[in-house]
Amino acid sequence: MLWQHLSAFLSFSAVFGAALAPWMAGDLSVSLPAVNPCCYYPCQHQGVCVRVGLEGYECDCTRTGYFGANCTSPELWTRLYNLLKPSPAFYHFVLTHFRWFWDIINSTFIRDTLMRLVLTVRANLIPSPPTFNSNYGYISWEAYANVSYYTRILPPVPDDCPTPMGTKGKRQLPDAQLLAERFLLRHKFEADPRGTNLMFAFFAQHFTHQFFKTSGKMGRGFTKALGHGVDLGHLYGDNLQRQHQLRLFRDGKLKFQVVDGEVYPPSVTEAPVHMVYPPAVPKEKQLAMGQEVFGLLPGLCMYATLWLREHNRVCDILKREHPTWSDEQLFQTARLILIGEGRRHRGSPRPTSHGDLVPSGSAGPARL
Ligand code: HEM
Ligand SMILES: *[C@@H]1O[C@H](CO)[C@@H](O)[C@H](O)[C@H]1NC(C)=O
Ligand SMILES: *[C@@H]1O[C@H](CO)[C@@H](O)[C@H](O)[C@H]1NC(C)=O
Ligand SMILES: *[C@@H]1O[C@H](CO)[C@@H](O)[C@H](O)[C@H]1NC(C)=O
Repeated sequence: MLWQHLSAFLSFSAVFGAALAPWMAGDLSVSLPAVNPCCYYPCQHQGVCVRVGLEGYECDCTRTGYFGANCTSPELWTRLYNLLKPSPAFYHFVLTHFRWFWDIINSTFIRDTLMRLVLTVRANLIPSPPTFNSNYGYISWEAYANVSYYTRILPPVPDDCPTPMGTKGKRQLPDAQLLAERFLLRHKFEADPRGTNLMFAFFAQHFTHQFFKTSGKMGRGFTKALGHGVDLGHLYGDNLQRQHQLRLFRDGKLKFQVVDGEVYPPSVTEAPVHMVYPPAVPKEKQLAMGQEVFGLLPGLCMYATLWLREHNRVCDILKREHPTWSDEQLFQTARLILIGEGRRHRGSPRPTSHGDLVPSGSAGPARL
């Protein structure tokens, strides 16, 4: 087998190091196809590997903070930063001790300043404009501007590599079911060590399904959630037509139904949107929500109901304070307020770079 010989060669050259490589490559190019040098991931610190000539490569180290053939030499500022940067253990120690100090910070304006700093630093970890997607291992306008793509921070593994991970690992990825069972299958109940519960899982599921909506039609690399972020598309629908079906067009509100004196999402007969339900469920029993699949699980329905009630509650307050506003202005303003709440309820305020109000290209779940 060609690949067996090749992988034997790969481990051989890994052992004997770089000195042999040019000679080996020269020799092998006669009998074997040259391995794309980018499959070795030679560029460090997220430098971008670019093929040059037939067997060469260059690393684009732009804005990595490093330079050199493989982006391994730190620039002056990087050197200083690395020198001064405390270790994770030190961070952990400081954050879990000195309660009095944190109490002071928490009760003053420093808290907001600090939070803003933390969030900006984290937001800046995300490349902007966004870089790669599953079809483009190089920077392109298409990867940036075609928002149907999920984007990614790291380039995909080149197509012509010996293994799915480049040159390391097995040639065949392990069976997904085997992995899931090996790592996740439990044979007896184990309480969550942090004392959290199913509601948290449903919260996460509900929240993430506004921006993770893989397109069935276009394929795995594509999303239907073109807002790419916390736009509450799971409450308002991921397109204008769906939003209009869900809206009451009165006082900015969303359609709803009252069951036993309590407010719930409307039925699909009242708000004719596509919902995924088992075939036996008749239309008048299907609840119409922003997200197509939320009828499938009670926890998702529950959160959809809470947010629907919240939207209409905010509309009531807005209308009281702004009796002159149109339905459209009440709706749009309530949506902005709920997006703000949606980000905050997630546990911390959300930075602007993810799902911000300014269009930011196909940022996508890579940002999470
Ligand atoms: C009752 C529990 C759950 C069930 C039955 C369930 C079921 C599913 C199914 C069938 C898919 C589609 C897989 C595919 O297309 O190949 C999926 C995708 C997904 N699930 Fe779950 N899941 C559950 C819990 C969760 C939780 C707790 C989260 C928390 C974040 C979550 C997040 C996701 C995400 C982000 C996707 C990808 C969605 C997309 O890209 O379209 N799920 N889930
Ligand atoms: C860059 O990496 C390649 C492959 O790992 C190695 O052969 C080469 O010597 C490195 N160059 C420098 C300047 O470190
Ligand atoms: C920080 O202050 C807020 C009120 O501003 C309070 O709700 C919260 O419990 C405080 N956090 C801690 C850890 O003391
Ligand atoms: C985005 O790319 C996909 C795949 O090439 C293509 O089918 C789709 O039409 C593109 N969308 C836009 C808006 O160009």
